[in-house]
Amino acid sequence: MLFYFTATGNSLYAAKQFDNDLFSIPQEMNQVNRKYRAEKIGIVCPLYEFDLPSIVKEFIRDSEFETDYFYIVMTYGMHHGGCAARNAELLEKAGRHVDYYNTVKMLDNALPVFNMDEQRKIDPEKKVDEHLAVIKADIEEQKHFIQPATKEEVDFYENFIATSAAFSAALKQPKYSVSEKCIGCGICTRVCPKGCISVVDGRASYDSTRCFGCMACIHACPQKAIGYVEIKEVNPEARYRNPNIKLPEIIKANAQN
Ligand SMILES: Cc1cc2nc3c(=O)[nH]c(=O)nc-3n(C[C@H](O)[C@H](O)[C@H](O)COP(=O)(O)O)c2cc1C
Repeated sequence: MLFYFTATGNSLYAAKQFDNDLFSIPQEMNQVNRKYRAEKIGIVCPLYEFDLPSIVKEFIRDSEFETDYFYIVMTYGMHHGGCAARNAELLEKAGRHVDYYNTVKMLDNALPVFNMDEQRKIDPEKKVDEHLAVIKADIEEQKHFIQPATKEEVDFYENFIATSAAFSAALKQPKYSVSEKCIGCGICTRVCPKGCISVVDGRASYDSTRCFGCMACIHACPQKAIGYVEIKEVNPEARYRNPNIKLPEIIKANAQN
């Protein structure tokens, strides 16, 4: 049994390698009593600012898991900041034992920091499938492992925390705008895991109240009509979806309407 969250498909692609019994976290969040029992239970999701996305934290905190083997795998783009060791310890303190916590480097979809066209060029260097195969084997044999935090990653994380508070806040509680290029197709309304967008009078209308900044809407908009208000993007014309994942899969995972 594996629970996943994905905005642009990387984590769904990873999840598919590890298990066939997949459940979307945004959909599960709509269940009132969440109690799960299975021999193995996994969570696969992206890394947001060296941490779990808030929707995943809430899912773990407010669900009951009865299992012999609990694992977490986070997909990330450039630096994981030692999140596995840090989060495993935090979860342990909160009474949730994690048997296996690892990360896998994939394409970085963070538009304020990276140009997706450049990211695609360096993607093969990340050897994603080789790393996923190693993690798959680890999970199959129920290996016990928490990825250690190297000094380089911890330094990177601590520097970010010390220097990027405003940027971090703008990413976590972003404001998006919808330009006149919007044709009211409604794709954004269906990829949003929190139902923040609706089409009003033929145009997308975005309410930031529940948004946690996953960027699914920005990446999926065929018109490139959605963007940040406060943050400048590196390349507003470049967007991303994992090439192995189809748009209807993201919609099925996230749609709240
Ligand atoms: C809001 C946000 C914050 C991110 N923060 C980080 C980060 O701290 N370090 C990193 O290496 N990648 C970061 N990324 C990149 C994603 O973790 C990475 O692209 C991930 O594989 C996307 O998964 P998905 O396609 O399943 O949504 C961030 C992406 C977003 C949207």
